[in-house]
Amino acid sequence: MALEEIALAFWFLLPAYAANPVAVVFGGGTPIDFGRSLRDGHRVLGDGKTWRGLAGGVASGLLLGILLTLLGSFLSPRLAFGDWPGVLPVLVILPVGALLGDLAGAFVKRRLGKARGERAPGLDQYDFLLGTFLFLLLLERDWWLLRYWTGDAIFGLAFIILITPALHRVVNVIGYRWGHKREPW
Ligand code: CTP
Ligand code: MG
Repeated sequence: MALEEIALAFWFLLPAYAANPVAVVFGGGTPIDFGRSLRDGHRVLGDGKTWRGLAGGVASGLLLGILLTLLGSFLSPRLAFGDWPGVLPVLVILPVGALLGDLAGAFVKRRLGKARGERAPGLDQYDFLLGTFLFLLLLERDWWLLRYWTGDAIFGLAFIILITPALHRVVNVIGYRWGHKREPW
């Protein structure tokens, strides 16, 4: 049923969705680009992308993935991310893809001359999701196809694409109110 597909599509992406908000909480300190700029005069990535944010986001996303894998395999076979330990690459890719997608987004924003935190509609909302899906397609193609493409799974993909901007917005407003984020987007 489509509703179940939608819930599953969301469930398997939780470690990817969690990675960036955690990076916001853990972030700060040395920027990933070490303050360097490219020849266009703009920073490679900017001060909004830090090693601490990257490490915290990857670690917590991986931890969440492991917990959900354990929980899922207890609750229902459909909720299982995969068999241990073969599923480990997927659990790594989910947060790593999300954070590298976010870094790629920042790289593009700087090339467009946009300052840290300046809006880039589309890019801000989807960069992490594109990163996750791209890495899964490259490295764990069958895992991705089964859960986001084959048969009714496509409903799940459609839902994810539709809901992600709203979800992004809600999480960022919460981060802003709690004082973790400088802008509510
Ligand atoms: N953050 C971090 N390291 C990361 C990602 C995020 O330290 N790899 C922290 C930074 O403090 C950043 C905040 O989370 O300012 C919000 O993240 P985001 O909205 O992605 O960055 P912006 O500040 O908006 O910068 P950009 O314009 O480059 O997207
Ligand atoms: Mg931002």
